[in-house]
Amino acid sequence: MKAAVYYENGSPDVLKYEEVPDPVCHPKGVIIRVSAVSIEGGDTLNRWRGPLVRHPHIVGYQAAGQIVEVGAEVTHLKVGQWVATVDGFGSHAELRPVPARNCWPIPDGFDPRLASVIPVAFGTAHDCLFEFGRLKAGETVLVQAGASGVGLAAIQLAKRAGATVLATASSDERLARLKAYGLDHGINYRTHSVPESVMKLTDNKGVNLVVDSVGGPTLQGSILSLGYRGRVSMVGQAGREPMTVDVGSLMGGNRSLSGVFLGAEIMTDRAHDMIQTLIDDAARGAFQVVIDREFPLSEAAAAHAYIESRAAVGRVLLIP
Ligand SMILES: NC(=O)c1ccc[n+]([C@@H]2O[C@H](COP(=O)([O-])OP(=O)(O)OC[C@H]3O[C@@H](n4cnc5c(N)ncnc54)[C@H](OP(=O)(O)O)[C@@H]3O)[C@@H](O)[C@H]2O)c1
Repeated sequence: MKAAVYYENGSPDVLKYEEVPDPVCHPKGVIIRVSAVSIEGGDTLNRWRGPLVRHPHIVGYQAAGQIVEVGAEVTHLKVGQWVATVDGFGSHAELRPVPARNCWPIPDGFDPRLASVIPVAFGTAHDCLFEFGRLKAGETVLVQAGASGVGLAAIQLAKRAGATVLATASSDERLARLKAYGLDHGINYRTHSVPESVMKLTDNKGVNLVVDSVGGPTLQGSILSLGYRGRVSMVGQAGREPMTVDVGSLMGGNRSLSGVFLGAEIMTDRAHDMIQTLIDDAARGAFQVVIDREFPLSEAAAAHAYIESRAAVGRVLLIP
């Protein structure tokens, strides 16, 4: 099969399009013929400095496609079925071996390209908002990096739950595009202080919850934007800067900072069912899956470079 592989960590141009051996099906797994790869923020971070599990390594968490082989011990999936899949690596390829547990059937008629985007971005946003963020209707949430994959999912899920939604982005143009998905107030963090803008927008109350997938100095702004009993769901490090924060303001306001890692619970019944519900909700139009651009798999290096240019709003796909 063909795959986008790399032999060393680095910038997008470490990705090469090469012939590699076809995968072997594990007894508890399946193999899918990939129809769409959803490139995750974590895929670009792994390419930059993550472990190379194979040599050459095939990066990538998410892909959707059609099952072409089923392991001997798998009884609930069958050849020909369309599924969205997640695993620690291996999405950037024509064929993907994946544990059967990490497959979610795609409802008839729902575009696999859209389904490919849902498990990680929407599942993570859901956990940040509800499982760990305890968001309730009527509360106010701040989504850092609102134009990201996790951010756009969080904006829509928070709005659907009856929250007021604030979000940050690096330009007014990016913020304007978020209005269509439920954004109430945008903050351009290049021209405005985030905590000061939040306090102005909330009558100095601060927000109830922040979803922060950027980390570094951004995380400090998230903590300083909290109101009484406010919570931060800290979920990523897209900014690639050290996490040095002063947590001094948490205690006096009964505030909290929680780490969120979907991968630690993705095999549980709770997370599996939550993701299937999100896929089913998307299939009936409960929210929108935003695809910014598609590239052929052979142009994976250009696709990663495009993501790192920060022009994308929503997801960039690779099509084998
Ligand atoms: N813990 C978990 O379970 C989990 C799950 C999913 C994702 N994540 C993590 O969450 C983060 C975001 O993932 P994603 O898929 O939403 O990412 P994405 O779609 O690639 O978007 C990342 C966004 O971060 C903003 N950003 C701020 N500083 C940046 C920088 N120095 N370089 C690049 N982008 C920067 C950019 O928006 P602006 O230009 O508008 O600022 C960009 O659009 C990643 O660190 C990922 O690993 C964690």
